[in-house]
Amino acid sequence: MHIHPKITPIYQSSVFKFEDLNELELYFGEAGSRYMYSRYANPNSDELAEAISRLEKGAGAVATGSGMAAIFAAILCYCQAGDQVLCAQDIYGGSSSLLNQELGRLGISVGYVPFDDLSRDLTPYLQPRTRLLLCETISNPLLRVVGLRGAAEACRAHGLKLVVDNTFATPVLTRPFDHGADLVVHSVTKYLAGHSDVTAGVAVARAPEDAARLRQVGSLFGLTLSPMESWLAVRGLKTLRLRVQAHCHNAQAIAEFLSRHPAVQQVHYPGLPNHPQHLLAADQGGTLFGGMLSCRLADEAEVVNRFMRRTRRFPFAPSLAGVDSSLSYPLGTSHRALTPEQQAEVGITSGLVRLSVGIEPVEELLADLQQALDS
Ligand SMILES: Cc1ncc(COP(=O)(O)O)c(C=O)c1O
Repeated sequence: MHIHPKITPIYQSSVFKFEDLNELELYFGEAGSRYMYSRYANPNSDELAEAISRLEKGAGAVATGSGMAAIFAAILCYCQAGDQVLCAQDIYGGSSSLLNQELGRLGISVGYVPFDDLSRDLTPYLQPRTRLLLCETISNPLLRVVGLRGAAEACRAHGLKLVVDNTFATPVLTRPFDHGADLVVHSVTKYLAGHSDVTAGVAVARAPEDAARLRQVGSLFGLTLSPMESWLAVRGLKTLRLRVQAHCHNAQAIAEFLSRHPAVQQVHYPGLPNHPQHLLAADQGGTLFGGMLSCRLADEAEVVNRFMRRTRRFPFAPSLAGVDSSLSYPLGTSHRALTPEQQAEVGITSGLVRLSVGIEPVEELLADLQQALDS
């Protein structure tokens, strides 16, 4: 009797068996089984990579053990010792730490491009062996929205690849390949898995040869994802579209509430009409603006502490994009490794709090924020 599970089972096996040498040769001829050893490929991690590649309209992908591993794989896909990476100045602190602290000693240097120049002329930042530009569709933590079409054109003018971290936007808002990107990376840990119970990443390529290269980098550097984590992420992915819509709806209401509250000095949310890239965000995000926002309280640690202690629905948990709301403090966590000058230049101050708005009933979140801020 054959059984036909509706859901892909978890292939919790590090290795697969072969009948004999003929079957092994079929494997290496790529005509038969795809599976020999789970670090190279596993049905669950393939299911995840293929599902995300479809969502992003890519040619193929590798699922990785974290978002950082995906960024590393993306850079290694195009760079070798002696090359330079251009990186948006507004970027997740872990990405800049990887470039500053680790890739430099492997001979891959980095130059930073201020936000306003990303979609313009990159000439002032180029070196003879500049290979790519790394940026985020919506930046962490200040929610600046990069004009991807302009960035892609700026890259094309100099033969650079455009690598886009699409973690904050998700393919529900924006598909960077539609705007000319070459690679898309995600921290799957965030919206794609969505439940704060998985650490994972993915790097997706527009061109089949880059997808093959990503898979090779993934397996030889050992960056690939385990079956169980892949399975959990696939399960999360099934509700991505519905979750993201609910995140966006709640974040919009909260951004509007915070922008009226006297204890809040500034709100960074692309859905607010006074956001500097509001129109671009509406165009590039299909009128969805995401579930992340940042707000500036008074620049005093005790003001931030009081808010953290009083809120019940936004625990201080330095990650984001789970179905349950949380908050983080970029100066002390994700952007801690920047120098005080770099923090000031990007706009990360001691009053900046980042909210990851969940999908709870919005009136409960608003009531909680109201009581936390009023007091
Ligand atoms: C925008 C962005 N990219 C990449 C990462 C790294 O992902 P991971 O923590 O899954 O390695 C993060 C983590 O916070 C992030 O916010």
